[in-house]
Amino acid sequence: MKTLLIIGIGAGDPDYITMQAVKALNRTDLFFLMDKGPAKDALIDLRRELCERYIERPGYRFVEAPSPERARGAGVDYQASVAELNRDKQRTFERLIDEELADGETGAFLVWGDPALYDSTIRILRAILDSGRCVFEFEVIPGITSVQALAAQHKVPLNRIGRPVEITTGRRLAAGQVSAADSLVVMLDAEDAYRQVADQDLEIYWGAYLGTPQQLLIAGRLGDVAAEIERVRKAARQANGWIMDTYLLRKPLLRKPED
Ligand SMILES: C[S@@+](CC[C@H](N)C(=O)[O-])C[C@H]1O[C@@H](n2cnc3c(N)ncnc32)[C@H](O)[C@@H]1O
Repeated sequence: MKTLLIIGIGAGDPDYITMQAVKALNRTDLFFLMDKGPAKDALIDLRRELCERYIERPGYRFVEAPSPERARGAGVDYQASVAELNRDKQRTFERLIDEELADGETGAFLVWGDPALYDSTIRILRAILDSGRCVFEFEVIPGITSVQALAAQHKVPLNRIGRPVEITTGRRLAAGQVSAADSLVVMLDAEDAYRQVADQDLEIYWGAYLGTPQQLLIAGRLGDVAAEIERVRKAARQANGWIMDTYLLRKPLLRKPED
């Protein structure tokens, strides 16, 4: 039987890795490296660094495969393009598991942050098992998400006392999503969606490249800092060639300072 590990490696700082993840790295014979896009080299380097730093036994190996890209542009249906992307990824994963991993070996996907948050690896491995085209066992090892990193770096709790938190995408925010939650975490924002929020009195806690040496943090009243975030974000993307950022939007506290 083949074994696959989906290992959350934390969202930026190599020190975010958990002891459970370190043990999982040390059980792995073959690492699948599947990054894509402009951040590809940085993300692959970080994964190799983690392996060098934390694996004590020699003999593990890597296989790199170009990760399929999602169709983009005007007229492309977002949901359909994601479904097509996941089918392409599934075919790539099937081939790698079939051709590169021997029976009795353990392979691992090193997932940025936590595998349960805006990541398709678990869904894809389940789909492969359901298709019956490969047989394997798999385990999921949780990691520190960019949401946790954001809250820690800004030293804020995500929720007001006893209140909900919602996690959403920049795409949904830009489309005018109305949320009942008084704390909203926004990820995957390619479009400066915070600029389109009607309530400019919200507090924003913004972070980019969290946990890395390039980390950027800005916080304040949305109406006061939105232009600065947009400017800093644009400059950072130009300087680095890519950006990953996340932010918390929340209603300002009116009365109860203990919140
Ligand atoms: C495909 S999702 C992956 C999320 C990841 N699984 C997690 O647990 O954080 C990518 C999005 O996560 C956020 N993100 C990931 N790493 C980040 C970091 N180091 N700093 C800021 N945002 C980050 C950004 O919103 C980015 O667009």
